[in-house]
Amino acid sequence: MERTLIIVKPDAVQRGLTGEIIKRFEQRGLKIIGIKLLQVDRELAETHYDVHRERPFFAGLVEYIISAPVVVMALEGSDAIAAARTTIGATSPSLAAAGTIRGDYALEIGRNLVHGSDSVENGEIEIANFFAESELCGGWARAVDSWVFE
Ligand code: RTP
Ligand code: MG
Repeated sequence: MERTLIIVKPDAVQRGLTGEIIKRFEQRGLKIIGIKLLQVDRELAETHYDVHRERPFFAGLVEYIISAPVVVMALEGSDAIAAARTTIGATSPSLAAAGTIRGDYALEIGRNLVHGSDSVENGEIEIANFFAESELCGGWARAVDSWVFE
């Protein structure tokens, strides 16, 4: 099983899309093992987006992510990284397929609603950055698990 960190970004929370976005991951079969609302501080935002530190959009990206509360989730499932990213859609919403979150609800790359980890390793690192171990319910069983996971 893989784990991915999902951030329902400030624009999505402000637009009342939190429930719709959570619903799509739940329907996909991914299991929520951690979830909370928080306002990200600058230090955490800069750590999370450290790989983009030298990019021209970095400052604006940090301001965006700290501008208002977000909902963060740790999700678990087979191929969770790829599954979440296909549900989210392409980074630039104008290129995102209809039926994806970004393809259905977003227009601009700087207001693209959702983050999903891009590798197994980064998923583990990002979850540890946002959640204490005591905030995660790893390994809990759903009654439907055998109908989602073979
Ligand atoms: P994310 O990390 O948020 O899941 O998105 P991603 O993998 O699809 O995209 P990534 O390349 O990691 O970029 C992180 C976020 O930075 C913003 N961005 N702006 N103005 C630009 O050219 C630009 N490029 C990236 C987006 O908010 C993107 O989600
Ligand atoms: Mg990324």
